[in-house]
Amino acid sequence: MPVLRPTWAEIDLAALRHNFQEIQKTIGDGCDVLAVVKADAYGHGASQVAPALAAAGADLFGVALVEEGVALRKLGIEQPILVLGGAFPGQETDILEYRLTPVLYDLNCAQRLDSAARNAGRPIDYHLKVDTGMGRLGFRMERLNEVLPILKKLNNLNMNGLMSHLAVADEPEKPLTGLQYQLFSDVTEKVTSSGFQPRYRHIANSAGIYSRELSGCNLVRPGISLYGGLTGGPFANQFTQQPVMRLVSQVAQLKDLPPGSGISYGHRFVTTRQSRVAAIPVGYADGYNRLLTNCGEVLIHGHRAPVAGTVCMDWTLVDVTDLSDVQVGDQVTLLGRDGEAMITAEEWANRIGSITYEVFCQVSKRVPRVFVNP
Ligand SMILES: Cc1ncc(COP(=O)(O)O)c(C=O)c1O
Repeated sequence: MPVLRPTWAEIDLAALRHNFQEIQKTIGDGCDVLAVVKADAYGHGASQVAPALAAAGADLFGVALVEEGVALRKLGIEQPILVLGGAFPGQETDILEYRLTPVLYDLNCAQRLDSAARNAGRPIDYHLKVDTGMGRLGFRMERLNEVLPILKKLNNLNMNGLMSHLAVADEPEKPLTGLQYQLFSDVTEKVTSSGFQPRYRHIANSAGIYSRELSGCNLVRPGISLYGGLTGGPFANQFTQQPVMRLVSQVAQLKDLPPGSGISYGHRFVTTRQSRVAAIPVGYADGYNRLLTNCGEVLIHGHRAPVAGTVCMDWTLVDVTDLSDVQVGDQVTLLGRDGEAMITAEEWANRIGSITYEVFCQVSKRVPRVFVNP
């Protein structure tokens, strides 16, 4: 594999396909998959991830922004693209031109889309979003009696989907998820009895897929489980999800230092023994979070070595005193597997008080993505 830069992210497309197939097996026949590839496929690189998922059988794609949807169309993605964040004023032309499907949660937006569709002489499909307990986007259920008749009159819009979003699916012991399903079923009843026939009904994100029956739904919206990042708490070891991203760098310089030597900005690490320190060309500008200062670990030759001192913008120092025979140029694994050892996104997230999603999304644009197993 060519090393393009000192630090790169290896993206394993075979692992991605495996995770997609796991989801398909779990949901069974009669349910379609909308692959969530927003935020550059959670930092994995949508330009390769989306075509790989399309080839694997993804039925629809989900993005946050109209701009992300346009980029997918320009890549040649032909499946329906759901814009989860909806259409903001002025984006109606792109919605029409690139055949995007906005999520609808606002009546002004509905009016704007309807006029644009009328002017273009072409209807716009949308998915109606109802808030069953997330408290974020979506019409409150109490408003449906007012909203549905208005939508019914907008002849240039077509309700292609009805959706909601789960708030605590990653905590299966909580009763809210069951309640949200019940409310969603009531909403479905109300919407269909008002004369709408949405082709898709969906509420489940990854944790929703793996935590309970998808009663009444015929579409799921996995994101993090495609990337092998649904690995915490109740989902640990539950199924054979594979990590898709490895973040890799190399030793740029080695230095032997006597006891009492301060290392990196602020001298937050001071050697207590004769030490060997390796400089690694990765920093917070690459997504190696500064909270890993004096607390992260990396893998070299399949063994762990601790981060020593402050993580800088472009550099991180690692104490390799306990490892034998480390050389300049040796590979350093910041995330993922090296031999028997592994640094999971979950471990990294726990160290910085965050979630696997953020670990992946933080890997910045300047880190080249190298796609393997196409
Ligand atoms: C509306 C919506 N659906 C689905 C997803 C995918 O969720 P997950 O990555 O937890 O599977 C997201 C992600 O945030 C979302 O906002």
